[in-house]
Amino acid sequence: MSISFTRKLLSWYAEQERNIPWRGVKDPYVVWVSEIMAQQTRIETVIPYFKKWFDVFPDVQALASAEQQDVLKLWEGLGYYSRARNLHRAAQVIVSEFDGQLPADAAALKTLPGIGDYTSAAIASLAFGLDEVALDGNIRRVLARIFDIAEPLGTGEAERQFLSLAKENLPGGQADDYNQALMDLGATVCVP
Ligand code: ADE
Repeated sequence: MSISFTRKLLSWYAEQERNIPWRGVKDPYVVWVSEIMAQQTRIETVIPYFKKWFDVFPDVQALASAEQQDVLKLWEGLGYYSRARNLHRAAQVIVSEFDGQLPADAAALKTLPGIGDYTSAAIASLAFGLDEVALDGNIRRVLARIFDIAEPLGTGEAERQFLSLAKENLPGGQADDYNQALMDLGATVCVP
């Protein structure tokens, strides 16, 4: 791994980490909902929705037993409503098939509605401390610039390079800080 890159990234993060209400929260349900809300949506926009959500649906069981119209009502204004419908459906699957607990495994998480590569890796690393790399558009941009990736974005070859760079540089046991450091760098410094 490029030790100097990872070391610099983590020391930058220790000083410049963004102040986000769910930072450091390990509850898998909280990580899951916050990651879904933050997709295609600015963190500042998400915060009031995030607070209201947990007043109304404090745990997976409360969400699973809600009426879909109440879930959608709470989502009103956030857009991309399939995210809310998938959260609701996935909560029902978690209750019926996973004993009400999100599974501590990226592959199992990916079987749930609305959870793909990025979200499963984010939950696995942030909530369960697993060494998974979360790749989204922001993190791809950061890696492309720092490591000077010439392949056009979206090609299979570019994707292989992103994955292998992200994995090579991952500091074992610190995937939570590493992933969030890349997210924060992409949101505040290494912007589009
Ligand atoms: N964007 C999406 N999820 C995030 C997180 N956990 N930290 C910072 N930015 C994010």
